[in-house]
Amino acid sequence: MSIKYYAKISGTGMYVPDKVLTNFDLEKIVDTTDEWIKTRTGMSERHLASEDQAASDLAYEASLKAIESARIRAKDIDMIIVATISGDYAFPSTACILQQKLGLKGFPAFDVSAGCTGWVYAANIAKQFIENGIAKHILVIGVEILTKITNWKDRGTCVLFGDGAGATVISRAKERDISRFIDSELAADGTQHELLIQKAGGSRLPATKETVKENLHTVYMEGNKIFKNAVRSMYNACEIVLKRNQLDVHSIDWLITHQANLRIIQALGKKLKINENKVIINIEKYANTSSATIPMALDEAIRSKKIRHGDIVLLASFGAGLTSGSLLIRI
Ligand code: UT7
Repeated sequence: MSIKYYAKISGTGMYVPDKVLTNFDLEKIVDTTDEWIKTRTGMSERHLASEDQAASDLAYEASLKAIESARIRAKDIDMIIVATISGDYAFPSTACILQQKLGLKGFPAFDVSAGCTGWVYAANIAKQFIENGIAKHILVIGVEILTKITNWKDRGTCVLFGDGAGATVISRAKERDISRFIDSELAADGTQHELLIQKAGGSRLPATKETVKENLHTVYMEGNKIFKNAVRSMYNACEIVLKRNQLDVHSIDWLITHQANLRIIQALGKKLKINENKVIINIEKYANTSSATIPMALDEAIRSKKIRHGDIVLLASFGAGLTSGSLLIRI
């Protein structure tokens, strides 16, 4: 495709619910310890949505901040893409509900299901719509309330997740603007889809009393199999975009990866041979917020002025599907 315009990130925002659940709180719920969680995952605490909060509520708060930081008005938005696997409903899409909350209508709004890689997939879709000239400002959000589909009796998964939303505005870059999406790479390996799955509630196994009793509507994950795949798939996605753009790792100012496990983040950093001071990590505060981890980390790093205008940022993620992908962006 010939590129008519470049796409850039023009605004970011994030929102996490007020309630905090620490590792010590989890010690009272399942047979676990603060020490196990910290050393195996790097997590200390996570935020939990309240009973009356759904994904679109979190997405709405994050969106307002992203729209403000992009210095546009909500009515300038011409598309909404929400990456989520824990939306308000199975249908309609959370993007349509968010559109209504923002007081907007009359343009495309849809969800993307790519697990934790969701925001990377969604940002890549937005990039195409900007580059071909169809849209000017696209709201792209990663939002998750996985704690509502968590099996609180399974210590192997319930300690890992937190709730949150990360929003970005992806806009048409002005001609002389140095900020732009440089490249991206997406992949999926459907042969491994059973490793990370919500087994019941869809057309394969509709919800019944039994499925609920057996907790089949909650997150099922074979953690250590995913672990091995995670480093390999993110490394491949990063290598492809670096090579294609004749860049070596020294040209990268910042690496932001999906925050699923500190050991995965560090292993990827080491494999890429990137200076550890260039790796953005916030897993200790929010745990794994799935599709929200990358836009949340991006927002924090931009607001704290760690990431500055002109910096080259490499983003990489992996998740249910199994999906994976990378984005190379100049902020
Ligand atoms: O974001 C989407 C993708 N998801 C991921 O990226 C997750 C990737 N996987 C991981 O991060 C890690 O595999 C986990 C953190 C989920 C687990 O760490 P691990 O080092 O792979 O542990 P393991 O599953 O191999 O379990 C080791 C031991 C087991 O005990 P035994 O069999 O050795 O006696 C588990 O029963 O740790 C035990 N264990 C726990 N102990 C205390 C598992 N969960 C816990 C826990 N507290 N919460």
